[in-house]
Amino acid sequence: MKILVTSALPYANGPIHIGHLVEYIQTDIFVRFLKLSGEDVIYCCADDTHGTPIEINASQLGISPEALIQKYYNEHYEAFKTFFVNFDNFYTTNSKENKEFSDYFFTKLKDNGDIYKKDVELTYCPNCKRFLPDRYVRGICPKCKSADQYGDNCEKCNTTYDPTELLEPKCSICNATPIRKSSGHYFFKLSNYSDRLQSWLEKNDSLQKEVKNYLLSWIKEGLKDWDITRDAPYFGFKIVGEEDKYYYVWLDAPIGYIASCKNYCLKNGISYEDYWKSNDSKIIHFIGKDIIYFHFLFWPAMLMGVGFNLPENIVVHGFLTINNEKMSKSRGTFITAKECADKLNPEYLRYFYATTLSHSLKDINLDTDDLKSRINSELADNFGNLTNRCLTFLFKNFGGTLSQFSYPELENEILELATKVIQHYKNLEFHLAIRTIMEIGIIGNKFFQDSAPWALIKTDKDKAQALLSFTTNVIKIMGTLLKPILPETINKLEKILNIERGFTIADDINFNLKNHTINKPSILLSKLEDVKLVEQHPSGNLLLKAGKILTVSDHPNADKLYILEVDFDTEVRQIVSGIKDHYSKEALIGKTSVFVYNLTKAEIRGVASSGMILAAKSEGNLGIILTDAPKGSVIEIEGVKFNGKTNLLIKEFSKMTFSSKKGEVFCEDKKLIAKDSKIYPDKDIEGVVG
Ligand code: MSP
Ligand code: ZN
Repeated sequence: MKILVTSALPYANGPIHIGHLVEYIQTDIFVRFLKLSGEDVIYCCADDTHGTPIEINASQLGISPEALIQKYYNEHYEAFKTFFVNFDNFYTTNSKENKEFSDYFFTKLKDNGDIYKKDVELTYCPNCKRFLPDRYVRGICPKCKSADQYGDNCEKCNTTYDPTELLEPKCSICNATPIRKSSGHYFFKLSNYSDRLQSWLEKNDSLQKEVKNYLLSWIKEGLKDWDITRDAPYFGFKIVGEEDKYYYVWLDAPIGYIASCKNYCLKNGISYEDYWKSNDSKIIHFIGKDIIYFHFLFWPAMLMGVGFNLPENIVVHGFLTINNEKMSKSRGTFITAKECADKLNPEYLRYFYATTLSHSLKDINLDTDDLKSRINSELADNFGNLTNRCLTFLFKNFGGTLSQFSYPELENEILELATKVIQHYKNLEFHLAIRTIMEIGIIGNKFFQDSAPWALIKTDKDKAQALLSFTTNVIKIMGTLLKPILPETINKLEKILNIERGFTIADDINFNLKNHTINKPSILLSKLEDVKLVEQHPSGNLLLKAGKILTVSDHPNADKLYILEVDFDTEVRQIVSGIKDHYSKEALIGKTSVFVYNLTKAEIRGVASSGMILAAKSEGNLGIILTDAPKGSVIEIEGVKFNGKTNLLIKEFSKMTFSSKKGEVFCEDKKLIAKDSKIYPDKDIEGVVG
């Protein structure tokens, strides 16, 4: 039985980030497990190189799309290698094989009567001379009238609409006003396959239930025809028999699975048909939950249409969150694989992901404290420390030579647990696999501690050697079971244990390592100190609130200072402020302004002050920052999450730069915002704020 495993093909228009790595690490662990079990399996992937964004990015960089995808190919290749993602073939969709298969699919489906051509009206930029995908049109939402929304849906009110409904649409490349223009497009009649898709889904027991339920309900609602054409300029494959029309990237991307597999087969003297047309093969795709529709409907329908094998399983995983929130550039949580590897041992990320991965669509949360404690208590203490203590002692006192031993009860208990681990791997329940491996470790540690070989060696040397030999076998079993997750560390262990052939499930889940000599041990795993994966935006330290000025009085010891009493709804605070030269008392009373709320309390010329008013300054002019947000409301800094800091020092505050521009206020490059309310400088002042 031949098995082909794939991960989704990453877009060649950006770096691999730690969100992507969830998928590639999950798939890689599974493939390594299958190989460890002796399965005949290959892991194929490729860069997904076609589409409008890649063509536009390249032209904006002044390079060819080919040069752009080559740059990302090299970067992706390195990133995967760094995280031990071990593809048997990492290819590109911009390949000869893929072009041939794409033409073959298109022609065959057209001959079947599954593809027809019709004219469609699309958004077109007369200035750029290109049709604009929805993502490249911005305008005012027809429903809530928010500015700067995409052509297909509003991020503010979540309405989806037709690009024609968008008010004052603008091309987001050149800002010209787009027009409507018609073009002949090919459509794939997905509904031809509704019945076959439904029965495939219903019959297939490997698929996740929650995914199946979505899909069956979509099929019931009726499947829409799929536009598989894009007009020039485009980076992709030209449609057979057409001049300026290309296959939509999502047509040739999944075909890239076959093309990468074929390319592997060509290099290894086998036939791709052994995977895609044989009865003795299995295809397993791993994907994220955002691309279910393509993989469970379009893709199987295409395969049915040309008579290729359908996937036996499509494993869907959830999304990575960091501290329970989506990755975000502005929060500093958009972490590339490269940045991550600079700060964390890549195998530790693999281990942590494994502790959170299950066969479900649940999101996976990365919490650095969690990561640290799992690495330290499980990997370093439970496994690493036992390994180090036992093997060092064995090497020092017995030259590393193992003797006979027999502890049938413990041996059985551990072998039963090992069988469970293997089942958990098969079921893609990696978190349970790890938990069970750690149970073996707990047994091993307890045995080692209780039998105290360091004491016994003085009275019964043979018995001490026997129990060290038993423990070494426990370590070998744990190592074998951890090998899919920690390939490099376990490779080191194989060398120490002098098992050069490498561990396998068939040969090493047993207590047969006796009358064998190990090599000099070295430390396998080290503990983690601080993990600083997430760079905080400096303004994450800042808490701003709207406050209403109740009273204003003169400072007894300073000519330029006022003492304000400010109402923040839940409390009234006294705040000293240097705005006397610019405002009369009357002009301030009753105004609602923005205040720094978490500033450390200070004495200013003998008067206590807890907070600071924000004001904009320009050429001797000063205007406080006003808001119509209700008193006490938190003023947010767009895209930055407040980290809960209390007692912000004035020194830290003065490192942040504020400014006002066009009636809006910014901290660094981030806008100050409050729900349904305006924030603006008094007197229309543009300038520095402090
Ligand atoms: N090019 C398409 C896939 C084509 S497959 C024929 C694509 N590329 S992608 O680069 O956006 O994503 C690649 C894979 O990474 C997808 O399965 C996607 O779900 C996954 N992930 C991307 N970001 C992710 C997270 N933040 N978390 C978990 N997985 C994520 O989609
Ligand atoms: Zn334009």
